[in-house]
Amino acid sequence: MSEYHIQGKIRLAGEVSASGSKNAVLPIFAACILNGSKNVLHNCPQIQDTMISIQILEHLGCTVTTEGNTVIVDSSTANNWHVPDEFTRQMRSSVLFMGSLIGRFGKADVSFPGGCELGSRPIDMHIKALGAMGTDIQTGDMLQCSAEKLQGLRIHLSFPSVGATENIMLAAVLAEGETTILNAAREPEIVDLQGFLNSMGAKVIGAGSDTILIKGVKKLHEAEYTVMPDRIVAATYLLAAAITEGEINLKNVRPSDMIPVTAKLTEMGCQISEGANSIKLLAPPRLKSISKLETRPHPGFPTDLQAPFVATLALADGTSVVEENVFSSRCGHAPELTRMGADIMVTQDSRNFVIRGVESFKGATVEATDLRCGAALILAGLAAEGKTIVKEGYHVSRGYEHIEVDLRGLGADILHL
Ligand code: EPZ
Repeated sequence: MSEYHIQGKIRLAGEVSASGSKNAVLPIFAACILNGSKNVLHNCPQIQDTMISIQILEHLGCTVTTEGNTVIVDSSTANNWHVPDEFTRQMRSSVLFMGSLIGRFGKADVSFPGGCELGSRPIDMHIKALGAMGTDIQTGDMLQCSAEKLQGLRIHLSFPSVGATENIMLAAVLAEGETTILNAAREPEIVDLQGFLNSMGAKVIGAGSDTILIKGVKKLHEAEYTVMPDRIVAATYLLAAAITEGEINLKNVRPSDMIPVTAKLTEMGCQISEGANSIKLLAPPRLKSISKLETRPHPGFPTDLQAPFVATLALADGTSVVEENVFSSRCGHAPELTRMGADIMVTQDSRNFVIRGVESFKGATVEATDLRCGAALILAGLAAEGKTIVKEGYHVSRGYEHIEVDLRGLGADILHL
C-alpha cells in the first residue's frame, strides 16, 4: 500500500529546492551505453524511475554505483542488448534504450511498451526513424532490432515527439554521416541530453530548436555531467503555494525553463520574482481563473502540468477552460477532484475540461491514476478542509523525490504511508 494522508487548509510558506529532472535523466541513463566508459552523473533524482533505469543498466552488464544524488555508470562492461518485459512494463521510457543499444551494439531487443493511463502511446515514429537509418526491426511483443551500420539522414517528425527525438539522437551519435531531425521536440530535457552527449565527445547542435544536427563520430570518451532541475516538480511546488494562498522561495530551478508556467501563474494573480536559480511566488487571497489554457509541445504549456493546474483552477474565482492537445486521454484526475467538490465537466473526447471555480474542497479518499494525477490530488488535499487520502501513491514516487518531506518543510501536514 502507498498512500498520502493530508490534513488540509494549511497555508504553505518557506523555502524548498527542486530535485534533478526525471525526464532529463532517463534518456541520459540510456545514453551512458554509448561510450563504453565511465559516466559520472550529478543531481540525479532518487525516484522509482531512476531505480528501474539502474536495474536496466545493470541487466545490460554495466557497473553502477550510487552516492546520494550522484550515479556512476561504467558501460565498459556492457555486453547485453536485451530489455525485457519486466522493465518496459514498469517504465515505458525503457524504449529509449533502443537508440543507444543499436548505436553501440548494432542490436536491441526491447519489449514493446504498452499503452498507459494517458491513452495509447504508440512508438511508430521511433520505429520509422530507426528503420530509415538502416535498422531491421521485427515487431511483435519484442522489438528485435539489428543494423549493420546506422546511416545518418534527414528525418522529419510528423509530431515533435520527445521520445522519438531522443531515440534518434541516441542512434545518430555513432552513425555514419550526418543526421538532421526536422520538427524536433524542443523541450529543455532535449537540450540536457545534447549537453550530456557532447560531454562524451558527440557532435550535436540545435537542441531546443526544431532542427537538430548530429554528426556521427567514431569514438566517445568518459563523461561527467550535472542533470538539469526538474521543471515539473518545481512547478508543482509553486502550485502548492498558490493553491494554499501561500508563499514560496523555490531554489535549484531554471526560470527560463518555466516561462510557460510562470506566465500562467501571473495571469492567475500570483506575484512572481525570479533570481538566477530561484523563483519566489506570493499567492493572492483567491486565484483568478484562466479563460483558456492549452497544452502544447514546448515552448507551449506542458502537458505534465495539465492535471496540477486543473486542480488549482478548480478553486479559482471564475470559469476556466483547459484543452489537452498532447495525449489522447489525460483526464483521470477529473472524477477524483469532483469527489472533493470540484465542478469540472470533461468533453466526450476527454480532451477539454470546463472548470467552474468553487470556494473550497472537502477532504476525501481519492485514487491516483498516474504520476501527475497523483500530484494534482495531493495539491487538492493541501487546500481541502479536513483529511484527504490519496491512494495508489506509488505513481507519485515515480517522479517526485520525497514530495511529502518537501511539503512538510513548507508547513504541510502530510504523511506517506
Ligand atoms: C515524454 O513522453 C515525457 N516522458 C512525458 O512525461 C511527457 O508528458 C511527454 O514527453 C510530452 O512532453 C519522458 O520524458 C520520460 P511524446 P513521450 O513522444 O516521449 C504521440 C511524465 O509525467 N506519439 O512527446 O512518450 C504520443 O502518443 C511523462 O513525466 C506517437 O503518436 O512523449 C503522444 O500523444 C508523462 N508516436 C504524443 O505523441 C510516437 O512514435 C507526445 O508523445 C511517439 C509519440
